[in-house]
Amino acid sequence: MKTVEQQNPLSEGLRLERTPEPCTVIIFGASGDLTMRKLIPALFSLAQQNLLPAGFSVVGAARSPFSHEEFRDKMKNAVQEFADVGPQDANLVDSFISGLYYNPSDPTKPETFANLEKLLGEIDQERGTSGNRLFYLSTPPSLYAPICKALGQVKLNGSKGWTRIIIEKPFGKDLESMRELNRDVLSVFEEDQVYRIDHYLGKETVQNLMVLRFDNSIFEPLWNHQYVDHVQITAAESLGVEKRAGYYEKSGALRDMIQNHLFQVFTLVAMEPPVSLASNDIRDEKTKVVKAIRPFTHDEVPHYAQRGQYGPGAISGKPVPGYREEEGVDPQSSTDTYAAVKLCVDNWRWAGTPFYLRSAKRMPKRVSEIAIQFKTPPQKLFPASEASSPAEPNRLIVRVQPDEGITVKFRAKLPGQAVNIRNVNMDFDYGTSFGKKSPEAYERLLLDAMLGDSTLFARGDMVEASWELLMPVLDVWSQPAGDGFPNYAAGSWGPQASDDWLASECRQWRRP
Ligand code: BG6
Repeated sequence: MKTVEQQNPLSEGLRLERTPEPCTVIIFGASGDLTMRKLIPALFSLAQQNLLPAGFSVVGAARSPFSHEEFRDKMKNAVQEFADVGPQDANLVDSFISGLYYNPSDPTKPETFANLEKLLGEIDQERGTSGNRLFYLSTPPSLYAPICKALGQVKLNGSKGWTRIIIEKPFGKDLESMRELNRDVLSVFEEDQVYRIDHYLGKETVQNLMVLRFDNSIFEPLWNHQYVDHVQITAAESLGVEKRAGYYEKSGALRDMIQNHLFQVFTLVAMEPPVSLASNDIRDEKTKVVKAIRPFTHDEVPHYAQRGQYGPGAISGKPVPGYREEEGVDPQSSTDTYAAVKLCVDNWRWAGTPFYLRSAKRMPKRVSEIAIQFKTPPQKLFPASEASSPAEPNRLIVRVQPDEGITVKFRAKLPGQAVNIRNVNMDFDYGTSFGKKSPEAYERLLLDAMLGDSTLFARGDMVEASWELLMPVLDVWSQPAGDGFPNYAAGSWGPQASDDWLASECRQWRRP
């Protein structure tokens, strides 16, 4: 009989035909954007795929004084707007919505949690959810610790069934706050009850990285410093800060994307093969590789990191304002909307092969990818010719989004009597190969949390190691950028200084 950990979905795919035990998902922050745009539509999509248990229930918790009916109406609108609902789904929508409840919640008031405890008891009775509870914290981070403590006080941290808690990012804003939050959370819950969510880990292509590396024999022999010159991991967005200045001003690109999403992707590219697919075996390897990254001092930060902020520019020909002109942004803001870091992994596999991670808002297009650039052949046999294209190094590109797929870039001879050489692509495209849409990241992650599989969630020690490494950058970047910002135009590929930095290492940023 396999344990939950051994039945790892990485090896089995989403079509598991495994449904969780009857349970209730309690969402704190239920009137927020994430709930309406992602969480409720993802849960509904699981219902469409028949992956939710009978009696499945949701309790929304937020300050607004909604009744159950008002909350249901709002969530019905969210399902209709953001989920893929067809005419055949009318009954399913109604039955899904009828399992939704609301508990008006002020996390500073004890009655909030007493009422919640009572409501959950009633749901257990009526719907047979047997005390199985998945809490989801999607509130401002300052409420994470108070909510956990209050849940502990009414003994909602563990009952007759299972209890788990998903915590949204950001998990801390620096090393100290991360440690404090971890202490607070772990004073109420056990580590194996805590699911730190990182939605990049739920993306199909990111999950495929382990299969690509460890279920094929052609890549892994090349996957090391002998053959790989360097790796670039990019998450570019064409959107600006939108309506999130309140959060983003205190965060910036390094905290918002690199410390979490791109570090997670990095670990899957760089880690050693795990001894098994058990959650902790995989997460041990991920933590190990983060710990192998060479730390840098404050003085060394300019050699390891670059920051930028967008000024006015144009996206797809349409003029857009600079970051400092966006609503809610300080006109002198030094917040980074572009961040790039270089990670040197001091271990046997990667010594001398750097990883460059970059993320930015207001780039020319939305694209996330991993580019493995291979070393050039030891000797150049073929002379350049006019009909040949300039030699480009071999690359393996994993496109995380959009157009998920994998491309191998290599050199090939043009047909004809002369030896003329071109750069060509060999493409694998998810859409055309599998003929179906990849599931939304939140579907996978919510389902895994209900099933008790924490593989695709961040473990505390890795999160801590990543904050520790980035602290010198955060300290240096907390100083005003002065006249240096803005240093790239919206719609461009980032600051010139960052291009120059890479050029000084005889490399250049890819234009995906
Ligand atoms: C979020 C960040 O975690 O990820 C946002 O807070 C960012 O700033 C988003 O836009 C990007 O996610 P995706 O899935 O669109 O790449």
